[in-house]
Amino acid sequence: MSQIVVTGSTSLNGSVTVSGSKNSALPILAASIMIDETIVLNNVPELRDIFTMLSILQRIGRKVSFSGNTVRIEPGEIVVGNIPYELIGKMRASFNLLGPLAVRCGWAKVGKPGGCNIGQRPVDYHLRGLRKLGFRISEQHGDVIAVSPGSFDDFVHYRLPYPSVGATEQLMTVASLMKGSKVVIENAAREPEVCDLQGFLNGSGADVRGAGTSVIEVVGKDALHGTEYRVIPDRVEAGTYLFAGLATLGEVTVKSVIPEHLAVPIKIMSEIGGIVDISEDSVHIEVSSPLKAVKVSSEPFPGFPTDLQPLLTVTLSTARGESVVEEGVFENRFGYVDELNRMGADVKVCNRKAFIKGVSGLSGAEIKAPDIRATAALIVAGLIAEGETIIHEAGHIFRGYERIQAKLNDLGAVIKVFPDEDG
Ligand code: UD1
Repeated sequence: MSQIVVTGSTSLNGSVTVSGSKNSALPILAASIMIDETIVLNNVPELRDIFTMLSILQRIGRKVSFSGNTVRIEPGEIVVGNIPYELIGKMRASFNLLGPLAVRCGWAKVGKPGGCNIGQRPVDYHLRGLRKLGFRISEQHGDVIAVSPGSFDDFVHYRLPYPSVGATEQLMTVASLMKGSKVVIENAAREPEVCDLQGFLNGSGADVRGAGTSVIEVVGKDALHGTEYRVIPDRVEAGTYLFAGLATLGEVTVKSVIPEHLAVPIKIMSEIGGIVDISEDSVHIEVSSPLKAVKVSSEPFPGFPTDLQPLLTVTLSTARGESVVEEGVFENRFGYVDELNRMGADVKVCNRKAFIKGVSGLSGAEIKAPDIRATAALIVAGLIAEGETIIHEAGHIFRGYERIQAKLNDLGAVIKVFPDEDG
């Protein structure tokens, strides 16, 4: 099992360049399966989840190369129904291959993702949406099978019960290859990654409009063509380093970001006591006074992102006063709180709310990490704490943060990573 050892009582200082967005690159790579010409994707982060998706694309029949953050995908004959569960089960984003494969090949079989450490994470919105688009959906031995109707209705309207990011991405991708059909998706997710997927699809000849608003309209095309596309910067990674700067009372500049993607987190950081300076593609944070308590709820974009919720809670664990952090997206995203309390924090979780009484300091401990963002948050807790923190089961970090050890150490941290044989 991977371990991370963090030396405490460290303020972060300096600048860090943000990598490309994992959550943009994954649905774009899934969409690439619909295109039978060469695709070049730039600014793709070298992360475990990306390697998993590329392995899946290879199993399906694509020729893939990845170097210097550029992925090149060449067409090859597609083999449907050949994705081993050991790859699908590694990350939920692989479920977004179901629709693109089915619309491209006539049918598809993909393992149904199970629950995970942050909640049950069903796929009912994906499946209801695909049925509405005309696909026949069945389940067998843990797999979901989607069969294309061959020809599609002229007009389809689907209102998502909730603005699910993955379901929005799955449906807009499929719709872009539904020849002769106009699809309107209401209550769509408005996340920047959805806009990035629209940019990629339209760069490949699709007709998708409205990403970034709650209504997305897609006019299906007969075929899409090859393209070269650059993935947007990772707003969650950027937010992580900004919170790390704030929580450690340091001074950090994150470079190569799109500051508008972080508007709400930046506002909350200012309320906590950060002095934030924003330029065209960088954000600087420093702290002049003790950190203050706040009340925040995570919500779909443009609200406070659930992926930054653990970073926020860790930051507030040493802020003066009583904070309340509500998790508005996933039902079980406070799995790290017991570990944080072992480090001396005073956080009580009731339903989906964390009640945080700010303490004067944390102390290093042996803890374990439940998921990607919680691992990053516990590293930050280790930086704040006095003494050494050993984070067990820390391999999640390689799924979501490119070169985190080097980036944090460049900011003055002393972090040692001991990967297991998987990473
Ligand atoms: C994506 C992000 C993840 C982020 C999340 C919310 C990727 C690869 N992952 O995940 O980092 O935390 O958005 O911003 O982009 N739900 C259902 N049924 C469904 C689909 C979703 O009930 O069919 C529920 C989920 O359980 C969750 C909520 O809807 O409670 C939001 O999930 P969703 O927006 O779909 O998240 P993901 O796309 O899985």
